[in-house]
Amino acid sequence: MLKLIIEDFRAIKANDPAAKNWLETLLCHTAWHAIALYRIAHWLHTKLHIPVLPRFIGVIGVAWAGVEIHPGARIGRRFFIDHGTGVVIGETAEIGDDCVMFHGVTLGGTGHHDGKRHPTVGNNVLIGTAATLLGPIDVGDNARIGAETVIANRDVPAGTTVVGAPGVIVKRDGRRVEEKLPLAHYLRKPPPTHGVQGEGI
Ligand SMILES: CC(C)(COP(=O)(O)OP(=O)(O)OC[C@H]1O[C@@H](n2cnc3c(N)ncnc32)[C@H](O)[C@@H]1OP(=O)(O)O)[C@@H](O)C(=O)NCCC(=O)NCCS
Repeated sequence: MLKLIIEDFRAIKANDPAAKNWLETLLCHTAWHAIALYRIAHWLHTKLHIPVLPRFIGVIGVAWAGVEIHPGARIGRRFFIDHGTGVVIGETAEIGDDCVMFHGVTLGGTGHHDGKRHPTVGNNVLIGTAATLLGPIDVGDNARIGAETVIANRDVPAGTTVVGAPGVIVKRDGRRVEEKLPLAHYLRKPPPTHGVQGEGI
């Protein structure tokens, strides 16, 4: 756990040009404080199954940094949140390695799902300020989601840039495009089967 917290700290330097002095960063990067509290709360919640305390540690993160990360959320290595205030990450959200998030991001539920209710975000994904992602959607690796984007019940393909409300794909693997986002995997109908092999024999 300590290793993860140190890696998160190093990710600040890699991502934030304003982080020039390590002592200042240690003392003043409140979003990292909230991530460190989350790492502790997540460990207590998932490894020791301690009730109440992990959520209470999360409350300290909200009061101190304005960042609410449920201890049940799963977050990969080198997670970086810039500024932080207003970030909400729900209980069943999953986030890969090397992801970057700005203030005001919501990884939330739509209120229409039980169990897995929150987004699954791949590796190396950037989510801009005030972006709202709702439902158990998938966000592919290397996606870039613009500031103020809203995505509900749509998956985000890997390597795309998505902007707007509702979000549309404006770049795919670095090339300018204009495409609608695909329906989320859980809303897609299975492809039609044209007879079962061996049928009618
Ligand atoms: C989306 C983003 C990640 C850029 O990704 P990118 O792949 O480099 O995309 P580009 O900058 O080439 O933009 C592609 C198109 O989307 C538009 N666009 C970019 N971000 C947008 C946004 N948030 N909302 C609407 N349109 C946006 C650009 O104007 C461009 O359109 P154009 O080709 O017609 O001019 C970036 O614009 C962004 O929103 N980053 C978030 C940063 C943030 O939150 N900062 C807060 C600091 S306090």
